[in-house]
Amino acid sequence: MRYVYLIFIFAVIATVSVLGFRGTKTTKNPLEIFPDMDRMPKYHPQAESSFFADGRTDRLPVAGTVARGTFIEDTYMASGKQGDAYGNGFPIEVNQAAIERGEERYNIYCKVCHGAAGDGQGRTAAFGMAAIANLTNAPYTDMADGEIFHYIGHGSRSGRMFGYKEKLSVEDRWKVVLYVRALQRAANGSIEDLTPADKEGLGL
Ligand code: HEC
Repeated sequence: MRYVYLIFIFAVIATVSVLGFRGTKTTKNPLEIFPDMDRMPKYHPQAESSFFADGRTDRLPVAGTVARGTFIEDTYMASGKQGDAYGNGFPIEVNQAAIERGEERYNIYCKVCHGAAGDGQGRTAAFGMAAIANLTNAPYTDMADGEIFHYIGHGSRSGRMFGYKEKLSVEDRWKVVLYVRALQRAANGSIEDLTPADKEGLGL
């Protein structure tokens, strides 16, 4: 029975000490049980810092960072559309470096399904994934550049392929389109593409 009194007294003291002084004003510093939760060494946005040479706490994004949440598609460059229709032509500089960048991105993001040659025979086909588009054939060879660009960003019409706009910047998507065009050209080459000198060299 004694214990009951002791426990009761303890409970009263505990309750009063925790709840009893709520709302009381004091000039003393508040009791901080975990001060590091209140006072942590951190930078506030857009504050100054003596740590970095340029004096800013905010760092610039790493080169190649793809911005999220800023997909304003009001230009041909960003949407692949001219008016309501998909457009043709590349709004980026077309050169060897652009194709090589496209090849690199294609090999990272597309090859696994569409295959190194673009014929839809990637690793996933070997594991049984069906109906992967053979990008080197019609209708893909006849598609406008802007339409291919659009599907890369937003995914295929049937939804079986996801969009890559979070992973590929607008420029990189155009470069992938460029590389897809190169794959189509390579797959559909004919003897007529050779120069007379080349033909002669081959004894044709
Ligand atoms: C996970 C496998 C997979 C990956 C990775 C993939 N695709 Fe596809 N893609 C598909 C499949 C499956 C289809 C056919 C879907 C359909 O017919 O709707 C397709 C269709 C397409 C189409 C035609 C879309 C349409 O609606 O007709 C294009 C263009 C295309 N892919 C380009 C690409 C490019 C470029 C990449 C790399 C950025 C890529 N794909 C990555 C599986 C993939």
